[in-house]
Amino acid sequence: AKILVLNGPNLNLLGEREPGIYGRATLADITARLAARAEAAGHALESFQSNAEHELVNRVQAARLDGTAFLLVNPAAFTHTSVALRDALAAVALPFIEVHLSNPHAREPFRHTSYFSDIATGVVCGFGADSYAYALEAAIARL
Ligand code: DQA
Repeated sequence: AKILVLNGPNLNLLGEREPGIYGRATLADITARLAARAEAAGHALESFQSNAEHELVNRVQAARLDGTAFLLVNPAAFTHTSVALRDALAAVALPFIEVHLSNPHAREPFRHTSYFSDIATGVVCGFGADSYAYALEAAIARL
């Protein structure tokens, strides 16, 4: 099946962006690791990153018709702000896991709320790049 990994704003800077919080792995490193694991399990993985809310909304809408079976979504800062991206995921009604490198609950109060957690299949946060790997295992187990 096809698994789509969506990454929100500033995650293109992973590896150099606040490495004490987000680690040294680049988004390309993380994506390559995920793609290898998905392929070994007989699935296909596609990855999309954007800093623009409407691009993420458009990509989610496209997932409705492109054979995507499951999504891993790190909405980044949009986690705490985007009703539009939440509504897009609700509209396509595809299962998704919310992923964060850091543990937002251990950070500033404005990161403690998520517009996604209550409609996600599950949430994985706080394990750095491994958060994506654990979320992928959960997705594979459900496909
Ligand atoms: C993040 C956590 C968010 O609060 C933050 O805005 C990000 C990254 C994470 O993966 O830890 O950009 O989603």
